[in-house]
Amino acid sequence: MLDKEKIISLLNSDGTDLFEQANETRQKYVGDDVHLRGLIEFSNTCKQNCFYCGLRCENKNINRYRLTETEILDYAKSGKELGLQTIVLQSGEDTFYTQDKLCKIIESLKKLDVAVTLSLGEKTYKEYQAYKSAGADRYLLRIETTDEELYKTLHPNMSLDNRKECLYILKELGFETGTGSLVGLPNQTIESLAEDILFYKKLDADMIGVGPFIPHPDTPLGEYNIYQEANFWLSLRVMAISRILLKDVNIPATTAMETIHPDGRKIALQSGANVVMPNIVNGETKENYSIYPNKNIDNIETIKSLIYSLGRGISTDKGFRNR
Ligand code: 5AD
Ligand code: SF4
Repeated sequence: MLDKEKIISLLNSDGTDLFEQANETRQKYVGDDVHLRGLIEFSNTCKQNCFYCGLRCENKNINRYRLTETEILDYAKSGKELGLQTIVLQSGEDTFYTQDKLCKIIESLKKLDVAVTLSLGEKTYKEYQAYKSAGADRYLLRIETTDEELYKTLHPNMSLDNRKECLYILKELGFETGTGSLVGLPNQTIESLAEDILFYKKLDADMIGVGPFIPHPDTPLGEYNIYQEANFWLSLRVMAISRILLKDVNIPATTAMETIHPDGRKIALQSGANVVMPNIVNGETKENYSIYPNKNIDNIETIKSLIYSLGRGISTDKGFRNR
């Protein structure tokens, strides 16, 4: 059993043995197949103001967009045609999409016979309940950091307590619940990362998404200098320890890992990850999405080739947690 002291020593290690062990645990508990989840980032509008994030409401240097219900459904259909069995709806905390609008979208998605994952931020008990009744299966809400002080400085008008409360509500309502952390934030300690991992265990998280913090120039942390390569490896150690501790959970090779290291996705898949979440929307503006709905979809083929090259397969089921 991994206790806090042991986790800290693993976080401080070079990780070689750790990554191998996490890979073995992954193979033993969730097998070789990789689950692909089709990601639709349907709105980059957000009422929150997190210090690290380019979508923060105070950032004026960004073109805000919102996809319509029809656009979302069309992307989901094209994802389904590519064999994707899960659609992930992600957005900033955007009040434009009311409970009713979202429930309608969820109901339409469920008619495609896909698993539906939501990643919409902090909502009320009633809203989460309504999404569940509409058919949503999973919810992603990263805790980001369990360090109270750090949480406060990075999230104006938000609280760690409420974030935890949201996660416990999601579990209670029967969502497969995903959480995770940002790794390498200014003033984040190794000890607090160990606490993050213990929190995933305490919550009994079903999914864990961990990624390196990447400074965004249009945020207050834009100038923060991090040694990106070291940060990549630290986030990988957090991910690998999470695999060893929680065993049968679903763990993505995150986009941030891929962004910060050219082989990030591959290394993550060999260090405990069993999920990839390709973006199935053209990442430009709304106008561009509508004109070329199937653009940018070829990267799924690249991802598939990578998976096969590692001697792994692509899962053909919806990829729920298999206890
Ligand atoms: N670098 C890396 N990840 C980030 N996120 C937000 N801003 C950044 C950043 N600068 C992550 C947060 C959020 C997820 C959707 O994106 O962890 O939960
Ligand atoms: Fe970014 Fe999410 Fe914070 Fe909004 S709530 S600013 S999208 S991290």
